[in-house]
Amino acid sequence: MNIILLGPPGAGKGTQARMLETKYGMTQIATGDMLRASIKRGEPLGLEAKKLMDAGKLVPDELMIRMIDECISKGNCAKGFILDGFPRTVPQAEALDAMLARHKLKLDHVILMEVDEAALVERLAGRFSCRKCGASYHESYHRPADEGVCDSCGATDFVHRPDDRPEAVQKRFEVYRQQTAPILPYYRRKGILETINGMGEMDAVARQIETIIAV
Ligand code: AP5
Repeated sequence: MNIILLGPPGAGKGTQARMLETKYGMTQIATGDMLRASIKRGEPLGLEAKKLMDAGKLVPDELMIRMIDECISKGNCAKGFILDGFPRTVPQAEALDAMLARHKLKLDHVILMEVDEAALVERLAGRFSCRKCGASYHESYHRPADEGVCDSCGATDFVHRPDDRPEAVQKRFEVYRQQTAPILPYYRRKGILETINGMGEMDAVARQIETIIAV
């Protein structure tokens, strides 16, 4: 099964994609994580993207489309994929359709996670992640089981994302409203867009997604 998780910054797309990956073996394709990995490796693509990301702006469509095309072409999504962070513009959505047609794949569900802006601000302000493996946490909602020690890799060094600074967060909200929200009618017209309430606890949100994908 192939799905897209859509929603504003902090809606919980990454959290839910990782839960689906663990439970159902689908492959999470997270463009933000891929870009951050490229920055960490010091690649030219990452360095080009970093300035835009830190300012809360989008990376150019052609770079992102090429990145997803390479990923889908590898063909290692046997149990399907969960796109998290792509598409983010109408040209990206159109390019994705063309790619899927070329690979004889189809989209099963596009799921929009709705969360109030005040809750989004709180989620992003409290988010931190493991410097070594990137596992994501929240100061109030998801702390490591052993305080100060990453659940996934045991490292003890944590970081905040540069784009979770308040100025960058406001820019990301603006970019979401102006450039990403226009893809909602695109998928609504295709009849595959479903909306869930992303305000509940993580398990409650996961149950709503599972109800949709079980259909
Ligand atoms: P990206 O990394 O994709 O960021 P985003 O879309 O802004 O999403 P986030 O990762 O901030 O949030 P999320 O919805 O995944 O929430 P999460 O699960 O972490 O992109 C970053 C940048 O890369 C972009 O700004 C752009 O520059 C560039 N980029 C990426 N893709 C691109 C593309 N296609 N085109 C162009 N540029 C692109 O949850 C947030 C926090 O809340 C966590 O701490 C979590 O623990 C907590 N939380 C999650 N769910 C709940 C819950 N139900 N209740 C309470 N807390 C919760």
